[in-house]
Amino acid sequence: MTHRIGVLLSGRGSNFEALADSVSAGRIPNAELSIVVSNKPNAPGLERAAARNIPTRAIPSKGLEREVYDRQVAAVLREYNVDLVCLAGYMRLLSPFFVAAFPQRILNIHPSLLPSFPGLESQKQALDYGVKFAGCTVHFVDENLDAGPIILQAVVPVLDSDDEHTLSARILKEEHRIYTQAVKIVLEGNYKIAGRRVLDSV
Ligand code: GAR
Repeated sequence: MTHRIGVLLSGRGSNFEALADSVSAGRIPNAELSIVVSNKPNAPGLERAAARNIPTRAIPSKGLEREVYDRQVAAVLREYNVDLVCLAGYMRLLSPFFVAAFPQRILNIHPSLLPSFPGLESQKQALDYGVKFAGCTVHFVDENLDAGPIILQAVVPVLDSDDEHTLSARILKEEHRIYTQAVKIVLEGNYKIAGRRVLDSV
C-alpha cells in the first residue's frame, strides 16, 4: 500500500523539499506526498511543491476561529486520503479537533532539543541561553505547543563563533536528515508508544 502524506507549511519549505527528495529517492518507501497545504498563500514552499507537480492548497486563516480553520484543512487532507500529516514549518497551533482527526498520525519538526526552547526563534533562544549543544526534534503532535512523544532528536554543537544564522543552518541540515528517518519509522510501524516514550517495537 502507498502511504499518502500531507504536508502543512507556512514558509520556505526546505523540510518539505527534504521529504520530497527522500520519497523520490526511495528513502521513504511506499509513500507519496499527496498534498501540500499552507495558511500563507505566498509561502515559497507552495511554489516549491507546485514545481514538483504536487497538488497545493492555500487556505488563509485570517479571521477564522482555530477549529473552523482546522476543519477546512482536515477536509482537504481527507479529500486526498492522507494517512500521515507532516508539519514542516507550520506556524500554527492545532485545535483538539484536528489532533483527534489524525490520532498519532501528525508529526512535527522543531529546531531545538525539546523540551528546551519551544515556540518561536528557538535557535536564538538557545544562543541567548548559552547552551553548548543545540539540535532538533521530530515528535508526535498533541494539542500543546511543541509537545508530544519524541520520535528522534539530533544534537549539534554551538560554536563560539555562531550567530543565529550559522547555528540555524547547522540545525537545519540535521532537521532534513532526521525528518526522513522519523517518517520512515512511523510509516513502517516499528515502534510503540509507552507513556511519553517512543520505543522500538522489536
Ligand atoms: C524549520 O527550522 C522548522 O524546524 C521550524 O521552522 C523552520 C521551517 O523551515 N519549525 C518550527 O519552529 C515549528 N515550531 P522550512 O520551511 O525551510 O522547512
